[in-house]
Amino acid sequence: GKGEYDHYMRKEIHSQPTSLANTIEGRVTDGEIELAEFPAGTFADVDDVQFVACGTSYHAAMYGEWLLREADVRTAVHRASEYESSAGPIDERTLVVAVTQSGETADTLAAVRSANARGARTVAVTNVVGSTAARETDDALYIRAGPEIGVAATKTFSSQSVTLALLTQRIAADIPDAQPIDDLDAMLETLSDLPEQVETVVETSRAADLAERYLESRAFFFIGRGLGHAVALEGALKFKEITYEHAEGFTAGELKHGPLALVTEATPVFSVFTGGGDEAVQTNATEAQSRGAPIVTVAPEDHPAVESGDAHLSIPDTHPVWAGLLANVQLQLLSYHAANELGRPIDKPRNLAKSVTVE
Ligand code: M6R
Repeated sequence: GKGEYDHYMRKEIHSQPTSLANTIEGRVTDGEIELAEFPAGTFADVDDVQFVACGTSYHAAMYGEWLLREADVRTAVHRASEYESSAGPIDERTLVVAVTQSGETADTLAAVRSANARGARTVAVTNVVGSTAARETDDALYIRAGPEIGVAATKTFSSQSVTLALLTQRIAADIPDAQPIDDLDAMLETLSDLPEQVETVVETSRAADLAERYLESRAFFFIGRGLGHAVALEGALKFKEITYEHAEGFTAGELKHGPLALVTEATPVFSVFTGGGDEAVQTNATEAQSRGAPIVTVAPEDHPAVESGDAHLSIPDTHPVWAGLLANVQLQLLSYHAANELGRPIDKPRNLAKSVTVE
């Protein structure tokens, strides 16, 4: 049940310290990644990696793609619904990673079937043990987030992203020409602090105040770069899904190529700072601010961008790879509180289903 919470979504946001701890448990030992499903050498024959996913899972897959690219692995991320035409050349040295919470999303299953038929090796990264995606791929890697009831995916996004971060480094370690990312040791060390840091965000968040302050806005924009772009897209998807308000996510640099025409005093711009490309994000935020938009920085307390912003959602200091996940928790809370103020049916938004079983 929902226990002390009014909505499953709230409960699931708050349960992330526990779900993340489960995701990580036993998978990093003495600074080494250990995935029981994939012993060292499992991916030695892989030339390229394609991610396929929909919605929130696509944003987690963007994490995977970004990390593999950093590791010099040939990789791409595809919207599962476009995979048939976007996949490009595939053979038995292609690894296709399907990211799907439910394991039942029709578009994602169609992409898996297409990849299987074309001889690729397939892996499902999923929450549901024994789901169709788990059964129809060569291997499954479970994210262990526990059941998610709210239609809006929350805890499963963080668990997917962490699972993919570990999987990508396992893949990179096996591929001869790949380079595990520079500061892998620091990344793995800070990962153990992530559950506690999420707890801090949940307990100290001022997202409810900001949701109230900006509730009358005409639209809500979210910008970021690199991993922060995935977070911006995810922030906007969550916001539109449960508030029914117009929300959009952009790479910060794209703002000036069109969307800036929409920016006014009535369009707050939530700017995600992850510690990668931050100066550019700040420049882009300032461009929006000079057109009157309130800027909400989602960044560590002592970040240089905070001072010039109009409002701030704080995240603890961590490795750049995890910063976006902390920022995302703030944005989950923002969406939740805005939807709550508006009296929306948060756990079951209109027109949507928890898993979309039609193509
Ligand atoms: O079960 P899946 O992860 O395959 O679902 C994919 C999307 O339908 C899902 O993430 C959807 O976008 C969420 N409702 C977003 O909160």
